[in-house]
Amino acid sequence: MSAIPALKHFTDLNEISPDQFWGLLRLAKRLKEERKTQGQNEPILANKSLAMIFQKPSLRTRVSFEMGMQHLGGYAFYLSPQEVGLGSRESAPDVARVLSGYVDGIMARVFAHQHVLELAEWGSVPVINGLSDFSHPCQALTDIFTAWECLGDLEDRTIVYVGDGANNVATSLMMAAGKVGMNVRIISPPGYIPDNAILEACDGEVVVTDDLDGVIGADILYTDVWTSMGQEEEREKRLAIFPSYQLNRQLVERTENQNVLIMHCLPAHRGEEITDDVADGSSSVLFPQAHNRLHAQKAVLAHLLGNVPL
Ligand code: CP
Ligand code: NVA
Repeated sequence: MSAIPALKHFTDLNEISPDQFWGLLRLAKRLKEERKTQGQNEPILANKSLAMIFQKPSLRTRVSFEMGMQHLGGYAFYLSPQEVGLGSRESAPDVARVLSGYVDGIMARVFAHQHVLELAEWGSVPVINGLSDFSHPCQALTDIFTAWECLGDLEDRTIVYVGDGANNVATSLMMAAGKVGMNVRIISPPGYIPDNAILEACDGEVVVTDDLDGVIGADILYTDVWTSMGQEEEREKRLAIFPSYQLNRQLVERTENQNVLIMHCLPAHRGEEITDDVADGSSSVLFPQAHNRLHAQKAVLAHLLGNVPL
């Protein structure tokens, strides 16, 4: 028996202890190595199924969850916004109670974070947040897993996020990085900084600034789009505010670390928040990072749906 308490859901990182977070990272490493050395994983999710509700588009989340379930011997299926009508055609509590009679887990990508919380509250199967307007915990677990693979010991390493510090990816990233003892800096224009409540929920201290000198000494430079899904009507306004926060060659040089790792959750708006030369440069890990979604989420699935201990 593991001494680390089991998780019921994977909705938000503030509900996950550093021990549980490390348990998921170790499980992801084990499952990734198992598949690499044996060519396949043990079918620990045989006869298990995952419903995947999407209110927004996706490439990585949809494909990595579907393939992750298949690698573990289970089955996943996609439910489109038109079919389910989460919160419009049918309430989230009703959707949760119906699906709980058919499947062993629910993954949901939504606009309102409340819908993820309601699915978890009203259903009787594990619920995974596949991105909401508030957070993106699967991405952050993957990002720290990738940082761990690339850098080894993470204690006192510095991750600097440049861009919209109030968005879902930034929120989950700062929560995740604090759990493994990393120093976190958020560099954002005024008006796009994290809420105090989120900073207080982080395990470590987070430095928030609009000064680009904050990149000096970074081990990792991270960015995300300036206009997230659902914010399209703000695009022109944001394009006028964010350009000096672009991850370009000058900003990378300003870190004074020629090996600084470049990360981005993708999809990228190339030429906006990141330039091609940086996205495709020698210290970019954008694609290994994207590929690790598969391994990190397999750990979440194996734990929640297969009772694999942390
Ligand atoms: N990073 C991420 O969640 O990608 P998708 O939107 O393609 O799923
Ligand atoms: N912040 C982005 C992340 C996409 C994976 C969005 O919500 O659109």
